[in-house]
Amino acid sequence: MATTTKEQAQATSTEERGLNKRDAFATGLGVLVATIGSAVGLGNIWKFPSLTGQNGGAAFIIVYVLCTVLVGLPVMISEHMIGRTARKDAVNSLREVAPKGQPWWLIGAAGGLSAFLIMAFYSSVAGWVFAYAFKGITGSILSTDPAVTSQNFGSLTTSSWEVLFWQWLVLVWVGVIIVMGVAKGIERTTKRLMPLLFVLLLIVCIRSLTLDGAGDGIEFLLKPDFSKLTGSVVLAAMGLAFFKLSVGMGTMITYGSYFKDEQNIPMTATKVMLADLSISLLAGLAIFPAVFAFGFNVDAGPSLLFITIPAVFASMPGGSVFVVLFFVLTAIAATGAMLSIVEVPVAYLTGQFNMQRRNATILTLVLLAIMGAPAALSFGELSDFTIAGKTVFDLYDYATSNVLLPIGGLFLCIFVGWVWGFGAVERALTNRGTLSNARTIRFFFMVVKYITPPLVLLVLLDGLNVI
Ligand code: TRP
Repeated sequence: MATTTKEQAQATSTEERGLNKRDAFATGLGVLVATIGSAVGLGNIWKFPSLTGQNGGAAFIIVYVLCTVLVGLPVMISEHMIGRTARKDAVNSLREVAPKGQPWWLIGAAGGLSAFLIMAFYSSVAGWVFAYAFKGITGSILSTDPAVTSQNFGSLTTSSWEVLFWQWLVLVWVGVIIVMGVAKGIERTTKRLMPLLFVLLLIVCIRSLTLDGAGDGIEFLLKPDFSKLTGSVVLAAMGLAFFKLSVGMGTMITYGSYFKDEQNIPMTATKVMLADLSISLLAGLAIFPAVFAFGFNVDAGPSLLFITIPAVFASMPGGSVFVVLFFVLTAIAATGAMLSIVEVPVAYLTGQFNMQRRNATILTLVLLAIMGAPAALSFGELSDFTIAGKTVFDLYDYATSNVLLPIGGLFLCIFVGWVWGFGAVERALTNRGTLSNARTIRFFFMVVKYITPPLVLLVLLDGLNVI
């Protein structure tokens, strides 16, 4: 039977861990698009605007961009390099490149935990997005009155069966694409959807920028007020930089393991970073001018996207079409990101235990449904259940972005700079001597060894009030 032969083929591919036997991205462009697809997600359209709004606008953005360049990018290059060198899942890649007996694979193991925690709250928000895309079609979420849109959002997030239904729908949707594989599932899907996302975002941006009173929003994005910056705000900016570039938990090690031998890693990572920053800024330009034009609060936090955007669209001609477009594009962005999160445990389970891809995906999704439910219910049923003053949703979010990802990134840089060493880095980043990028590599190595680790440590300790 056809399925049996396919399954057998898959089983051998995980046994003989040869280069050509594992699934991988098929083209250089595919690598770039899938990696951008991982980086671009709810982080750009939901998290970036809500944190920027809560933390004072331009000054926060400046700190965030600095963290992206000095921390996020070096960690991403490190992860790609380790993944491609070892060509294994995150845990086993680290085990392979590290000296025998040293427990650097723990970074990958901690990353597995982060993957579940992130996916648990991410799938809740993605669930709201999918719900809004559908509700947009019936027009039931549109209203120019903020009180009404806010009530609409409240009635969705407090309805237990509704949030769980949408969360599970999202998990199944992601699972189906994951089962199709790296090239046929992830690469093909992101290649089709990412350009669409970009075009839709541009359209929404133009609409928002041409509203009366859009100027205040632009000013908010461009005029820094540094008085708002505290240790915890800087930590939030650094946490966002990790979250945005999907680094600190092994996603980029896993994706790096599917890269082509000829892929220029520093160049690819830089392009991903620039594309990701541009999408965030576009999302900011789509949202803030409208927020100011309609007199909404910028510091609404996680609900900003769901309360403001429907009101913005309700007040313009053809609004019901645009609101659907907007939430569809957000769903697209979320999909590429979720694929990359779920791929981490799936790659580990298939690589380590020779599990079939389909079974590994099902196991992962069941665990995610269990861990995700309390996050999805955090706004209704479980809103009074708090740990250290945070709901389950907030706790997952805070613990990953502000603690686990930075710690993962910190140890990864220490490993690359102080243990793996310049020789190995040079071999990996010149593609064994075929690229002449000596200056780039020396610069990268200097940053990853001397700049990123102390910076991450300082921001972490200060932001968590340890010093
Ligand atoms: N970068 C994605 C976003 O901005 C989220 C994401 C995908 C992620 N993979 C990750 C975050 C791995 C942290 C780690 O939406």
